[in-house]
Amino acid sequence: MSIRAVITGLGHAVPDKVMTNDDLAKIVDTNDEWIRQRTGIHERRVCTDDEATSDLAIAAGREALERSGTKPEDLCLIVVGTVTGDYPFPSTSCLVQEALGAKNAGAFDVGAACAGFIYSVDVAAAMIESGRYEKALVIGVDTLTKFVDWTDRSTCVLFGDGAGAVMLEGHHGTDRGLIKTVLLSDGAGAEHISLKKGGSRHPLSDPQSSDESSNIYMNGQEVYRFAVGAMGDACTRALEEAEMRASEIDLFVPHQANIRIINSAAEKLGLPDEKVFINVDKYGNTSGGSIPLALYEAYEEGRLKEGMVVMTVGFGAGLVWGANILRF
Ligand code: ACO
Repeated sequence: MSIRAVITGLGHAVPDKVMTNDDLAKIVDTNDEWIRQRTGIHERRVCTDDEATSDLAIAAGREALERSGTKPEDLCLIVVGTVTGDYPFPSTSCLVQEALGAKNAGAFDVGAACAGFIYSVDVAAAMIESGRYEKALVIGVDTLTKFVDWTDRSTCVLFGDGAGAVMLEGHHGTDRGLIKTVLLSDGAGAEHISLKKGGSRHPLSDPQSSDESSNIYMNGQEVYRFAVGAMGDACTRALEEAEMRASEIDLFVPHQANIRIINSAAEKLGLPDEKVFINVDKYGNTSGGSIPLALYEAYEEGRLKEGMVVMTVGFGAGLVWGANILRF
């Protein structure tokens, strides 16, 4: 009988510090009305100088572990979807492994920006479905506010920091678990959203790299166009491959980048408001953290229940995009 990768626990973590749109308007030429209308964001959480990605990842991971009743030493895998790890190396997943005391787990990071959780879940689920691993902790986390230019109003208003985590376990004889994933990419669009400094092409230590920005560059309109198409593309393909109709989806949990992008995707799929989960108003775009943080809140609010069919979809720098359909 085939093995299914089932979510058995959820966790989350966000920094305590809240930054409202009015707070932003004090440091850059923007206003609450513009941000709400164009993005749906009211406020976001922001790390202090002392907080980093692993702090959020560890807290979210610990909660998912506890809620699933898993002992750290029983974990086989820790997969962290992030593009804002504490360091270029070691991986953030190894910092999580040590903090949780998961002494029998393999650990690695997956770099797929705002689609990091979609990619990470699929990788971990495939490893579980192969029968070689039984219990995996999958964390999506980013701290993009550490890399925004606070004088660039077209990007700094969009991002927030946050993490979410799921415990995935191999179950036999169940219809729960991951049903279908599509993963897609188009490197031709790499130029539209990037952070180029600090890697091997433009090392921080190289004085000739000083022209490259240490902050996020984004062509908002190009990314917007791409995002609207990518969300529809990934969902349609996932549904086709699963031989399902959009009406069979009980809850749609999209990457929380912009309310207009979410509404456009939901409309194309013909999904009513009550099937669409939104928390971009509270957190902004938390990149890899966005989808698992939304799953966590949907569960806490009683909107996500065991047995429901959930579709998640994400897009981001790469360019990358993808969707998961799962029975919770
Ligand atoms: N406050 C006030 N005015 C602003 C702001 C701001 N924060 N930002 C831009 N404006 C102004 C512009 O200067 C422009 O003024 P002008 O008409 O006088 O030139 C006007 O508002 C309109 O600007 P646009 O860029 O056309 O605004 P748009 O409606 O496209 O919204 C936005 C911009 C919100 C960035 C949108 O393009 C978007 O959401 N893009 C997608 C971004 C995204 O999802 N990125 C995440 C990718 S995932 C990852 O990998 C991290």
